[in-house]
Amino acid sequence: MGRTIHFEETVTSTQKIAQSLANDGVQEGTIVVADQQTNGRGRMSRAWYSPSGTGIWMSMIIRPNIPVNTTPQLTLLTAVAIVQAIEELTPLKPDIKWPNDIMINGKKVVGILTELQAEADQVHSVIIGTGINVNQKIEDFPEDLQNIATSILIETGTSWERAQLIQTILLRFESLYSLFLSKGFKPIKLLWESYAISLNKVLIARTLKGTVEGIAIGIDDDGALLIETCEKKIEKIYSADIELK
Ligand code: BTN
Repeated sequence: MGRTIHFEETVTSTQKIAQSLANDGVQEGTIVVADQQTNGRGRMSRAWYSPSGTGIWMSMIIRPNIPVNTTPQLTLLTAVAIVQAIEELTPLKPDIKWPNDIMINGKKVVGILTELQAEADQVHSVIIGTGINVNQKIEDFPEDLQNIATSILIETGTSWERAQLIQTILLRFESLYSLFLSKGFKPIKLLWESYAISLNKVLIARTLKGTVEGIAIGIDDDGALLIETCEKKIEKIYSADIELK
């Protein structure tokens, strides 16, 4: 990973640049990193706040030979790689909130956005975008984010070298990705479960189709969250906002 890194000062979104590079046929492992995004995108068409000089705004292009419905597994794999990198470099112990939020002390420090280019049922390329709040102070966040977002600086009291974090994340990603390609999702799933805060808790999942309330009993082999409702029915959730109760 990261043998070719495109570094840009300011872009609309690293996802957009990575998508056009993927269309041009660049090799797997190509990375786009920007100091600042003017139109950073989050899940569910939300904006992602991406100011200059503080965070890691990065998109990775990979080309796994997998069917479209297994790509949520790569989001979970990326979350594990980032948690491992943060644990390796800092004293922090982040948790993962399904599917892709990395939390420290109940506040979001990292978001992951996985987008696909596919033909029929087969993946052509996957663009994994990661937004990591590294050196923001609390007052650097817009007011509406101050209660829900945090950064590695806020949690540790010191600032961190973004390049070193990127390097460690790419190394961790590379080794988990080879494990995934050789042994499948099972070992990744076990690691993911060891970091998950959403498991065995009562929660509400707000999906585009409605709300599901129940206990999160695990994740399925395709990366979906399994919720047991009070009627003892198991619901599979692929995309939702999760509120822990
Ligand atoms: C989320 O909603 O939690 C996902 C946020 C993903 C943000 C990253 S920043 C780098 C890449 N470029 C984007 O426009 N979005 C992703």
